[in-house]
Amino acid sequence: MKNKVFVNDKIYDAENAKISVFDRGYLFSDGIYELIPYFNSKPFLFEEHYNRLEKNLEMIDLANPYEKDDWVNKIKNFIKDCDFKNFYLYIQVTRGIPRDYNDGVLREHAVTKNYKPTVCMFFSEINGFSKELPKNKSAITMEDKRWMQCNIKSISLLFNAYAKTVAHSQGAYEAILVRNGMITEGCSSNVFIIKNKIIKTTPTSKHILPGITRSYVIEGIIKNNGYELSIVDFSENDLVSADEVFVTNSTQGIVPITCINNNDISSGLCGEITEKLYKKFVRSLG
Ligand code: PDD
Repeated sequence: MKNKVFVNDKIYDAENAKISVFDRGYLFSDGIYELIPYFNSKPFLFEEHYNRLEKNLEMIDLANPYEKDDWVNKIKNFIKDCDFKNFYLYIQVTRGIPRDYNDGVLREHAVTKNYKPTVCMFFSEINGFSKELPKNKSAITMEDKRWMQCNIKSISLLFNAYAKTVAHSQGAYEAILVRNGMITEGCSSNVFIIKNKIIKTTPTSKHILPGITRSYVIEGIIKNNGYELSIVDFSENDLVSADEVFVTNSTQGIVPITCINNNDISSGLCGEITEKLYKKFVRSLG
């Protein structure tokens, strides 16, 4: 199967998909993205992902280029030849390109009405969630140097990408970010800790992305199964001295973190509660 890319209503082979160098996404990171996972060829939490896309467009004051039904039809049509069973659909909407290349304003910081948005989509295979526990992963902590609107799923991922690169260069899976001594989130995930059987996660605020998996794990798994939950800020010290730590995101679900900054969390194995949550999560996918 050839990789395909959707750009403004046209579908291209990946190597032929092109976007103008004057696109405001390219010049200013002026855009947002969304990532929708598909398991067994079915979208997982589509409504929630779509709603976040819509909200993000509103937050950057960019008119939604399509009605919801159009999005659904365009997505269906785009992925109809996708052979992957488990994959994510990446959607990016930028403020786009000047409507008139000859008006002399090719790069202007201020947004004018003279732009037409660029919508781009592609898909990429992911591992489905194994019924067995995923491998334990390690993390490092790093100072959170991002801007103060991390609730927007901005395409500007300069710091997130840097943090992930540092983590990988140290053999770790994730960089967990710390602002003023308190944990915000992972550079591509939300963070949960467990201490004395109480599950804690950071409240939504401008310091974190409101993860779709985070809310699903809270509402659909933790609350439904009678675990004690506290939505509360916690410190780096609470993180490293937790009994269990796990992170969540759309492509990997629940990932146990068993070692942070080269020190084991408890025994260095996946904890009992994380294992139960993981199994319930995977079962809930059907
Ligand atoms: N990122 N926080 C950050 C900074 C993230 O980048 C992500 C996910 C999450 C988890 O959100 P969700 O559960 O909705 O996937 C939290 C995706 C996977 C990415 O950028 O590839």
